[in-house]
Amino acid sequence: MAGDDDLDALLAEQVAYYRAVAGEYGDYGAMPGASALGAVVEEFAPAGRVLELACGPGVWTPLLARHADEVTAVDASAEMLARAAARVDERVRWVRADVFGWRPEGVFDVVFFGFWLSHVPRERFAEFWAMVAGCLAPGGRVLFVDDALRAPEELVEGAESSVIRRWAGGGVHRLVKVAYRPEQLARALAGLGWSVRRWVRRCGRSTGVRVIG
Ligand SMILES: C[S@@+](CC[C@H](N)C(=O)[O-])C[C@H]1O[C@@H](n2cnc3c(N)ncnc32)[C@H](O)[C@@H]1O
Repeated sequence: MAGDDDLDALLAEQVAYYRAVAGEYGDYGAMPGASALGAVVEEFAPAGRVLELACGPGVWTPLLARHADEVTAVDASAEMLARAAARVDERVRWVRADVFGWRPEGVFDVVFFGFWLSHVPRERFAEFWAMVAGCLAPGGRVLFVDDALRAPEELVEGAESSVIRRWAGGGVHRLVKVAYRPEQLARALAGLGWSVRRWVRRCGRSTGVRVIG
């Protein structure tokens, strides 16, 4: 990846991809291991003010809302937000925004993101985590779930690249998909001053982790 303009263009393609696939975007509820993923959230018990970044079609939002006093859910895709809003109650505030430019007005007790961190370019990793830190109230907690799945046909720029290509809506989109190994991620987070308190569970190739700054 080159300059900021290239990165911005790539991130815009990523949003365009998710807007194009929003209608058919998968529901983990139907996937093997789904109950184990849900159990990660149950065990974490995200109480208080909860922020969900890149909420997508709202697979996680009801699980968060079960524990939370209130949930703020952010996504760049209006199509994803519409799907999410159809499945959760009024205690959720929906925000259409670009995670890389958005800043909340208040702070949160929990920040959650599902299958999102791998879509954050390495160049924006530190900035993203600084934003997350800025969103947390004292004693706040972070939980995220992710995978490192990249199909061979997506690796148009080679396995070493974190840029992949996916087809949707009759076109090809570039996306970021960083294939982290858990220990590598823990080191990167430690370098930013975060401590990974616990890798909560592994279900298939998905990993739930809990980090606290
Ligand atoms: C892999 S999906 C994950 C959705 C959801 N968290 C889940 O686990 O089902 C990625 C989501 O990120 C959203 N997204 C992509 N780029 C974004 C950005 N720059 N700001 C906010 N949301 C973005 C997409 O619209 C999509 O809903």
